[in-house]
Amino acid sequence: MSVSTTSPMNLKKPSKPVQEIIKTTGKQIPENFIYQLPNKATNHDHSEIKYMDSNIIDLSLLSSSSSNLHEEELRKLRFILSSWGGFQLINHGLSSSLLSQIREVWKEFFALPLEVKQKQCKSNDWYEGYGGDTVSEDQSYNWNDRLRLKTQPPDQRNYNIWPDFVPNFRETLQEYTMEVKRVLEIILKAIAKSINLEENSFFNECGGNEGVHIFTRFNHYPPCSSPSQVLGIKPHSDGSAITILLQDNEVEGLQVEKDKQWFKVPIVPDALFINIGDQLEIMSNGILKSVIHKVVIDKERERISVAMLCAPPPHKEIEPFTELVDKERPLQFNKVKNYFGDLFFQYYPRGERSITTLKF
Ligand code: OGA
Ligand code: NI
Repeated sequence: MSVSTTSPMNLKKPSKPVQEIIKTTGKQIPENFIYQLPNKATNHDHSEIKYMDSNIIDLSLLSSSSSNLHEEELRKLRFILSSWGGFQLINHGLSSSLLSQIREVWKEFFALPLEVKQKQCKSNDWYEGYGGDTVSEDQSYNWNDRLRLKTQPPDQRNYNIWPDFVPNFRETLQEYTMEVKRVLEIILKAIAKSINLEENSFFNECGGNEGVHIFTRFNHYPPCSSPSQVLGIKPHSDGSAITILLQDNEVEGLQVEKDKQWFKVPIVPDALFINIGDQLEIMSNGILKSVIHKVVIDKERERISVAMLCAPPPHKEIEPFTELVDKERPLQFNKVKNYFGDLFFQYYPRGERSITTLKF
């Protein structure tokens, strides 16, 4: 993704990978990982939190030739998006074996020695490559190691940091990306229709099949002996238009916020969890809400996920669709270009939301 090549101001040095830290520190959590709850009463004990509604959307019904089934699923989608902003997509056509394979190559990657990963996957761009978190001076680090790769469009891939030392890594990521693109097109069209926009509206703004930018985040959340002191990812909304997430198939951890309360996202076998990001909130003039979410850590088990953040090309100026602006819903956001590079990566490391800076 073409984001600014300079790193934002006042960032701490990236943390050492958590995987390495836990080898040496034992039960002691390093101070710079301890998450200070803004409100001490907030509970992030995963076991005591309710599940969100199941919010199942069936892709085969969205693409059904029966207009009744199709309309019914669109109505459901609209309801879920206006209440939760995130849903579990089933019958999406990605095979179980492809889902297992993408999880497998990521596990093989992070099982390799640190030297190999750091040497081979070090990028000059601060937002790509393998490693721990970058945050601003006053923030604690996330309990999360990740590999970030620009994945789409293909001419922006930095193949020199795409692992070639894990068998099938590149091929699997390539195949998975093609499948995610197929799903993305259907979903973006359905979301547009569900709010009575012309079906290509969001898809075209996102650059269509050729132009869409996809930024992949492979996440690894090692276990933590004192999970209530850390967070895998602090509360945030994604800077994407939408995010397509493959969760761990055994270990929970993702939570979403609704009406100032946290809810657990259940594991639905083989489903993809899809959530609205900031750029779709902007384009929809606030009708679609970018979901605030966070990740909590398990005491004993590691968790993995693969997030694909899908967004318009950075040179494209986005703004609310005029069809969605009227007396009842006046214009909510300013126009913006390069949302990821110019705004998101400036605010996110400080634990702030960039979308609020565009609000009227
Ligand atoms: C992210 C994210 C959730 C997860 O990568 O932005 O929110 O479950 N991931 O890993
Ligand atoms: Ni996220």
